[in-house]
Amino acid sequence: MHKQITEHVEWVGKVDWELKHFHGDELSTSRGSSYNAYLLRAGGKTVLIDTVWRPYDHEFLDSLKETVDIRTIDYIVMNHSEIDHSGALPLIMKEIPGTPVYCTAKGRDIILGHHHEAADWNFRIVHTGERLELGDRSLTFIEAPFLHWPDTMFSYFDGDGGVLFSTDAFGQHFATESLFDDAEEDLPAAFDEAMKYYANILAPFNPLVSKKVAELLGMNLPIAVIAPSHGIIWRSHIPEIIERYQKWSKPYAEDRVTVVYDTMWDSTRRMAEALADGIRAAHPETTVVIRNAAKDDKNDILTDIFRSRAVVMGCPTINNELSYAIDGLLGMIKGLKLKGKRCLTFGSYGWSGEGPKLIAERLKVAGFEPVGEPLRQQWVPTPEDLAALRSTPVLAEL
Ligand code: FEO
Repeated sequence: MHKQITEHVEWVGKVDWELKHFHGDELSTSRGSSYNAYLLRAGGKTVLIDTVWRPYDHEFLDSLKETVDIRTIDYIVMNHSEIDHSGALPLIMKEIPGTPVYCTAKGRDIILGHHHEAADWNFRIVHTGERLELGDRSLTFIEAPFLHWPDTMFSYFDGDGGVLFSTDAFGQHFATESLFDDAEEDLPAAFDEAMKYYANILAPFNPLVSKKVAELLGMNLPIAVIAPSHGIIWRSHIPEIIERYQKWSKPYAEDRVTVVYDTMWDSTRRMAEALADGIRAAHPETTVVIRNAAKDDKNDILTDIFRSRAVVMGCPTINNELSYAIDGLLGMIKGLKLKGKRCLTFGSYGWSGEGPKLIAERLKVAGFEPVGEPLRQQWVPTPEDLAALRSTPVLAEL
């Protein structure tokens, strides 16, 4: 399938309606996704920009052949070599061996690491500012390391008002019939998925994202279209998505607190709900979100934490340790390198009761600022215990 997106650019990707997990099971993709590949035809030249995930390689090739005689493809540009974009490259290269593959040096290394048949491919290593001449137009390369892999680059077509091929940046795992961001009914979901993508994938690289967005804006390039490699293509709301990236890449927080817990026999749950009541009372304007780490989607919880100014996290003590769900979540939180957020910890226990202290230590290492001492409850909280939690003075400091 192909769709014209500008005079010179066609979308030739794959919408993956059934994708529910990505990166193994590390990232939930409840709204599916798409692998956006593009065909750029200008100045008598044909450029293929990125491909699709390997399970769809034959489908991609067949579809591409309906769009173009692939022997006429002059150049292949790999903005990013992760397998969801380079997966169909081996099949394409079998058909058109020798076609130059433009990528960063890291991109070549990663392609060689993934596709062992690539040793003989005709790589052309590019750097920021180098360009591919396409008649009186050109495609300029802009390295964007760690947005989100070391190989990542953008490419910019100076025709059609300016098309920025931004690979994962500005993307969303969002399968939709709408190729563009024009439909107002799609927008809330697109922005939600863009934030989830950012929180779970790009947040660890905040300083680099911030710098790259500033660099892009400083280049004063006309941009009529931002064409990412997942989800909808931006053309009606470009300032909004750029502004969001500027905000998200700073230490970001809304007036929001996330209470996240795991529980064995409901005591820690009841503590969580009492603390949430207390936070609402202390901060009437604040949105308070309660999540069960073992039952709610881990990536949605991480997105909630990304949005929050504080996390209140609780867990029972199990064999002197934390529950599987809280332990795993803490590992993911640390990896995101979030900054400027506070935390308070709590939990019910039977005898040893290290849980809340362990969480506080882990969150501190992850960059959170602990507020108050861990709150511990032996066995089941009484109504008086819950009332005391609701009026815990330290909640005012969150
Ligand atoms: Fe969509 Fe980093 O690959």
